Amino acid sequence: MKKVRFAVIGVGGFGRRHASAIKCSERGELVAVCDVIQSRAMNWADTFGCTYYTDYKEMLEDGGFDAITIAVQDQAHAEIAVAAMEAGYHVFCEKPLALNREDCKRIVEAQRKTGRCFSCGQSLRKAECFSTAREMIKSGELGEIFQAELEYSHNYSHLKPEWRRDPVNLRYPIIGGGCHAIDILRWTMGEDPTEVIAISNHIALKDWPVDDCTVALMKMPSGAIARVTNSIGIQRKYVMSAIYSGTKATLECMSKTNGMMLHKPKADFDISHEFDELYIPISFSEGHNVESEIEELCSAILDGTPISCDALEGAKTVAVGLAAVESARLGGLPVKPDYNF
Ligand SMILES: NC(=O)c1ccc[n+]([C@@H]2O[C@H](COP(=O)([O-])OP(=O)(O)OC[C@H]3O[C@@H](n4cnc5c(N)ncnc54)[C@H](O)[C@@H]3O)[C@@H](O)[C@H]2O)c1
Repeated sequence: MKKVRFAVIGVGGFGRRHASAIKCSERGELVAVCDVIQSRAMNWADTFGCTYYTDYKEMLEDGGFDAITIAVQDQAHAEIAVAAMEAGYHVFCEKPLALNREDCKRIVEAQRKTGRCFSCGQSLRKAECFSTAREMIKSGELGEIFQAELEYSHNYSHLKPEWRRDPVNLRYPIIGGGCHAIDILRWTMGEDPTEVIAISNHIALKDWPVDDCTVALMKMPSGAIARVTNSIGIQRKYVMSAIYSGTKATLECMSKTNGMMLHKPKADFDISHEFDELYIPISFSEGHNVESEIEELCSAILDGTPISCDALEGAKTVAVGLAAVESARLGGLPVKPDYNF
């Protein structure tokens, strides 16, 4: 069977998941890892049985692979992604695509120019609860959606890598991690917010260089109102949830559970005024769905199948996050996301 040969750039916390997912894949083969920390690169090359590099440019020049995965700090995604595509490689790049508009534009333009396959790791698109929600919304099972509430919150106070709190190349949490909630909103609803009104504060993680909590209201083209909440100082376990309220039913999704809840009026609602609460079991992957993302890219390269979150999709999600940052900076004035990349 023909396989896609991969090299992983950045083998910190998440790059190791990339390497493991490639090792487990029937259609992928891991040939190299690269990390600027030599001991890290060496150790993981040893573990995964491949070669290692400390300079990604040298690795791109040497070749011997078809695609790279990028799991370095968000601030460096664009430089590496553009260099790799221009050198002829396909790319899987972690979310968020980038932290600013210029970097997103560079990636989208390089993808268009080179025609390489590009996948942005908005991994929750591969979570069964959200793909099920998307299908239910599309099929009309929930009726007309008038309200959606999404939350991505994750306590970052203990996180070591300093790039998350870089005081110069700021990583706004609503873009860094909040991109998961924004992306799931766009993807499940099948539409892009036309206007964003956001407020943020800086109470929970006062020593971070950015506001740590943001609440953003979004106008959807269908008329639905969406609310996206993001906190990196929350005192609870990681949460990624979505509640869709439609004219026929309400659906509650949590990414880290084995089920979702569908609320709908009982058949005799006119008399009983009661609601059914239907539990829908779903499967949950501990591996952040990287395996499915690698499979999707392999199929795109080998069979020409589509990629769900390509460069433009990744950039549109960042555009909504940037609009939220700008609106919060303006004290909550409405801002229209700019999707023109
Ligand atoms: N999909 C998800 O849910 C999810 C979860 C966590 C992290 N991420 C993303 O994964 C990426 C990596 O995050 P992480 O937590 O693994 O970070 P990390 O800091 O643990 O790892 C980054 C690694 O990249 C290396 N590196 C930095 N610059 C490099 C370069 N120029 N060449 C080669 N190696 C280089 C660092 O030495 C480090 O080992 C980020 O973009 C992050 O947003 C995604």
